[in-house]
Amino acid sequence: MKTDTLYLETYGCQMNEYDSDRIQNALGASITKNPKEADIVIVNTCAIREKADQKALSSLGRFKHLKTKNPELIVGVSGCVAQLYGEELIRRMPHLDFVLGPRAIPGLPRLIEEIREKKSRPVETSFDVEEPFDVLPYHEEGKPTAFVSIQQGCNKKCAYCIVPTVRGSEVNRPVEDITAEARYLIAKGVKEITLIGQTVNSWKLERLKFGDLLRVLGELEGLERIRFTTSYPRDITKKMVEAMAEVPKVCRHIHLPVQSGSDKVLRLMNRTYTRSWYVDSVNRLRDAMPDIAVSSDIIVGFPGETEDDFEQTMSLVGEVGFDSSFSFKYSPRPGTVGNELWRSGERVEDHTAGERLSRLQEYQREITRAKNMERVGESEQVLVEEESRNDSSWLSGRTEHNRIVNFPGKKELIGEMVDVEVTEGLANSLRGQYLN
Ligand code: 5AD
Repeated sequence: MKTDTLYLETYGCQMNEYDSDRIQNALGASITKNPKEADIVIVNTCAIREKADQKALSSLGRFKHLKTKNPELIVGVSGCVAQLYGEELIRRMPHLDFVLGPRAIPGLPRLIEEIREKKSRPVETSFDVEEPFDVLPYHEEGKPTAFVSIQQGCNKKCAYCIVPTVRGSEVNRPVEDITAEARYLIAKGVKEITLIGQTVNSWKLERLKFGDLLRVLGELEGLERIRFTTSYPRDITKKMVEAMAEVPKVCRHIHLPVQSGSDKVLRLMNRTYTRSWYVDSVNRLRDAMPDIAVSSDIIVGFPGETEDDFEQTMSLVGEVGFDSSFSFKYSPRPGTVGNELWRSGERVEDHTAGERLSRLQEYQREITRAKNMERVGESEQVLVEEESRNDSSWLSGRTEHNRIVNFPGKKELIGEMVDVEVTEGLANSLRGQYLN
């Protein structure tokens, strides 16, 4: 049987990138960058904010014409928008052949067969999947970094968030499966793995907790770095901090979304911690690892956020001094508590939220730039990942603190851990000189 050619478009988070790689392996397909050459087109979608969700839908619309010209072409939608709208997508888009939720990836090959045999248009969005982690992701030869999923779904109930609706409740992956995948990747030359999960540090299974998992992975020979994302503030335990500090392979970086600096808004968001609790957690991490880099996610304009609440977010950003942060304008999502607040009239005017977002991002830019400039003159260990995007005589990699470093060098260094002297600190990256 000839292998299928797959055109795959991916939106959203690391979990979606990982799932796209699993989709590729599930189908054993070869990838094309040109949809006109494809037997199967899949758009792997993101529903986190309305904009992402609309982008996915309009992207799907682009393949209508192709399907008319080639009725044999299979067009599918996967990921969080698929899960969110399910059946409705099939009704609204006559050119669509299937809808596949994020938990259902292992069933994809069977689905494709069914479409070809029966000309059916299946919607597969059940969470009741026996082996949700079946099917390893495709890994590109020579790529020194990889994601390893340790958890699917989420048990938290943040008022703004659609993730529990579209990815189901938390399922933790057994430690043997995690180490087996890590070993397979190491054998392929991977030096750095990033453990991924919605609240990655909530991972626990039988008697093991997240800190124990870090220690187990820390023993793997050939692995040089361990990262993980995204952490949930309330689940930072003493044991986790100790494991981070004591396992040398664990990178000195944590992505710890705070979402707001106002206790009132944190309560409305149902984040289950206060501002001072968050600051204490960061302090505990810094006490154990003084150089740890901390990054965050922040939402502005959540329903009920006043100017004073927003000022508290600004002051928190200054107080913690995030190395970087991603910030977003609140976007109401169907079926969430936040959506109810929004509809009951507590909403923040769009232009107000937009203006707050710009102020916040400007402030963060200043902090990040200052921190990057502090690195100038320092020597940093960099895992070389790839040629720089705009100049192939330059290389790009990251420090353990997750700072991007670009420096002139030959591509033979890709996959190596090298020392680089930092010569410039820019807004989002460092520049340097290879030392050797
Ligand atoms: N509106 C805006 N931002 C959101 N996020 C999650 N849900 C929403 C929403 N409804 C942000 C949070 C989260 C990041 C991945 O996306 O900051 O940490």
